[in-house]
Amino acid sequence: MAARGPRYACLECGATHAKWAGRCDACGAWNSIVEDAGLSSGPAKSLGSARGRRVALSDLSHAEPEPPRTLSGIAELDRVLGGGLVPASAILVGGDPGIGKSTLLLQAAAAFARAGGSAPIYVSGEEASAQIRMRAARLGLTEAPIRLAAETNLRDILTTLEAERPAVAIIDSIQTMWADHVESAPGSVAQVRAAAHELVTFAKRRGTAVILVGHVTKDGQIAGPRVVEHMVDTVLYFEGERGHQFRLLRSVKNRFGPADEIGVFEMTGAGLAEVTNPSALFLSERGTPSPGSVVFAGIEGTRPLLVEVQALVAPSALGTPRRSVVGWDSGRLATVLAVLESRCGIGFAGLDVYLNVAGGLRISEPAADLAVAAALVSAREDTALPADAVIFGEISLSGALRPIAQGEARLREAAKLGFGQAYAPEGSKLPASSGLAIHMVANLAGFIEKCFGS
Ligand code: TYD
Ligand code: MG
Repeated sequence: MAARGPRYACLECGATHAKWAGRCDACGAWNSIVEDAGLSSGPAKSLGSARGRRVALSDLSHAEPEPPRTLSGIAELDRVLGGGLVPASAILVGGDPGIGKSTLLLQAAAAFARAGGSAPIYVSGEEASAQIRMRAARLGLTEAPIRLAAETNLRDILTTLEAERPAVAIIDSIQTMWADHVESAPGSVAQVRAAAHELVTFAKRRGTAVILVGHVTKDGQIAGPRVVEHMVDTVLYFEGERGHQFRLLRSVKNRFGPADEIGVFEMTGAGLAEVTNPSALFLSERGTPSPGSVVFAGIEGTRPLLVEVQALVAPSALGTPRRSVVGWDSGRLATVLAVLESRCGIGFAGLDVYLNVAGGLRISEPAADLAVAAALVSAREDTALPADAVIFGEISLSGALRPIAQGEARLREAAKLGFGQAYAPEGSKLPASSGLAIHMVANLAGFIEKCFGS
């Protein structure tokens, strides 16, 4: 048997290394590698009588109809899950500490209890039962049939789950769980992995839907939720800006539905409230049309979403002008600035550029390029675009605009919110009667000529 020296693991991504290093080769994170004593002693439990049994795929499809999903009745949550909770699935809900994960899951537990009949089990390793009761009182859920357990020992938790066989079990949080067959401390990569493995195995064996909460950790000795992403069926992240009351639940991986779906919530004094019309919410902070402000008609997951893109351009006192981005990709901003400079002759040298997506939203769609370019030029020229216009289009390095998918949904959302015109790339499939005046543009230079040309 090979000698086992100390092993090292990355707290960010869970990759294992034979030697310590300042930077993880696998994910590129700095200072995230720690010694992890218990890595080699993985759980060695058998899966029982089903071990090694083979079934023909064709037999499966007839014998086992797709199990019914449980709808919680919280529409934003059900949609992000891909149409409700699937039995025997494992779901990870990650997010910054204090963002509202425990609040969301306590409300979800109550909703599943109402919808599904059987009482969910909520295991908290962070709060005492009395504290959870206080939270439930604040949320108006004291009467909800939820079974609470304040416990961190994985063996005890599994014994409870085996005995009670709930339809839904919530583990808050996976970093506080402690498996006694693993040597290292709670929160280490080995512990988090072992606990997640056992809980996921339980979910598959007993048909319980297991929801794991994972804190996103900035640094320190605690493993992050990415360590268990590959073990679960669905990965959801709960996001939001500290100063804003909006919270986004985003699916980044889903074996049972579309990824990149978002659910929008608002944190109120009595818990999380669903936001059924997020476009109106994200545009609600918009004042009178001003230079540098543009409305992007985007798609997040399967739903259209209108958001305001704001730019500010100011003379720079620095040798290297500042490029500050919130809610968008800074590399993408550099590309758009370069295309504006080379293809349209609009330079930003000597100018500080600030770009902001309003409402704390983070957009990753390439279709936002044209809205960003419009905001930048509008700010630089100090000329406002029409207040009733929405914009979408992807910019290629040549300055040409690429056709965009799902144009119809974008226009429908814009019409619903009272917009009157849209700028879109030539070649995009758009409906003939959307109620909006449509300006088709072939390239960036043509777009700028149309909007800002005198
Ligand atoms: P919490 O669910 O404890 O966050 P997490 O589990 O992700 O760490 O939420 C904590 C924050 O939410 C806290 O700052 C208080 C706030 N909050 C409200 O604003 N309204 C509420 O009804 C509740 C329960 C919490
Ligand atoms: Mg919590």
